[in-house]
Amino acid sequence: MDQIRIVGGRTLKGRLPISGAKNAALTLLPAALLTDEPLTLRNLPRLADVDTFGHLLNQLGASTQVQGSRPEDFGRVMTVSAGRITSTTAPYDIVRKMRASILVLGPMLAREGVATVSQPGGCAIGNRPIDLHLKGLEALGAEIELTSGYVRAKAPKGLVGGHVNFPMVSVGATENVLMAACLARGETVIDNAAREPEIVDLATCLVAMGADISGIGTERLVIQGKDRLHGATYAVMADRIEAGSYACAAAIAGGEIVLGGANKALLGASLGILEEAGVAFADTPQGLSVQRKNGLHAVTASTAPWPGFPTDMQAQLMALMTKAEGASLLTETIFENRYMHVPELARMGADISVRGRSAVVRGVAALTGAPVMATDLRASMSLVIAGLAAEGETRVNRVYHLDRGYERLEEKLQAVGADIERVSGD
Ligand code: EPZ
Repeated sequence: MDQIRIVGGRTLKGRLPISGAKNAALTLLPAALLTDEPLTLRNLPRLADVDTFGHLLNQLGASTQVQGSRPEDFGRVMTVSAGRITSTTAPYDIVRKMRASILVLGPMLAREGVATVSQPGGCAIGNRPIDLHLKGLEALGAEIELTSGYVRAKAPKGLVGGHVNFPMVSVGATENVLMAACLARGETVIDNAAREPEIVDLATCLVAMGADISGIGTERLVIQGKDRLHGATYAVMADRIEAGSYACAAAIAGGEIVLGGANKALLGASLGILEEAGVAFADTPQGLSVQRKNGLHAVTASTAPWPGFPTDMQAQLMALMTKAEGASLLTETIFENRYMHVPELARMGADISVRGRSAVVRGVAALTGAPVMATDLRASMSLVIAGLAAEGETRVNRVYHLDRGYERLEEKLQAVGADIERVSGD
């Protein structure tokens, strides 16, 4: 099993390209099921989860052609053609590897009138139910039953527009209902819709495919259903979480890097929190310049749905705060178990105490490298960030977590001066 080996202490300098957003790609791919014409996605990140989604689409009968690209290129172009759906079942062995598979439910139900998708089950960061997805689709007329670990959904007469009012913000449920509503008869109103930029990206792509959506970027989406959508070519937005992660890396390591393809606006609430922590940002023609001004300062931050501070940045901010002056208070309000990076950071000398949903991070003078275990995608990035500043060698095990969400991480960090490499583990 591969490991990432880091020897800390190097400052970073140079340009680091930001890839297409994982969480946009994973909802744009299933959108291809809504039409029998090809959907071409540009700037698709090379990630394990994108590959897994491609296999799932193939399983359903869609073809996925990747246009040739040089090995050194980041991202790629993929054309998904769902001319004929030959299966409406998303099997357990794929869904268990990638929860985002549940996002084929809405489009497949809208296109074929039937869909059988394995229930995703929980994951490391929480039990992650899908009740809001199911209630939302039922509001559009879907008949849903749960049997032997599968969601069996039917809409024999097609979906009918309805009113969905989510009791809590859910990115995935908003995406599933939004895609289904595009082919439902009549008008659908989604209230308390998630407003993450990846949903704006999805809605913009759907409009390019002929969908009629208003309120994009707001908590009220209004969709006038169409009989069919057509193909399109669409470029995936830049990954705001990858950009924020590398901003934390530059801040803890010192030096100055430029994040290619990123800008201040992309970072959302992460920008203000990191500026408060002592990180300086500047938009430049080459991308977003990031450097630590002087020392790092403790901050207080609670995760929240967009436009709040993203839960997907919590672990990375925590790693940065292990070296900040003072005590930071971080509160995780979205997932119930998103502190598994804490004991691993503690092995490196971090001083963190968790009380329920909150963690107090007291800055320490130095971290020491250690062998550590990645437990989930963003936790593994927090260990890399800490390793860049730790004295000595850090080995991050189970890097398959990293490969799900960070395209060629070690190459990107090597190119700006980090002493980092991928080694085959014991
Ligand atoms: C998406 O997950 C992202 N994944 C997550 O990113 C991200 O952390 C999350 O949104 C929040 O921003 C993708 O886009 C592929 P939710 P999703 O539905 O859609 C509860 C990463 O690291 N909930 O907004 O699953 C749920 O348990 C990943 O890139 C229900 O109760 O998140 C959670 O507490 C991790 N019932 C909260 O809502 C439901 O039916 C937010 O979940 C659905 C969700």
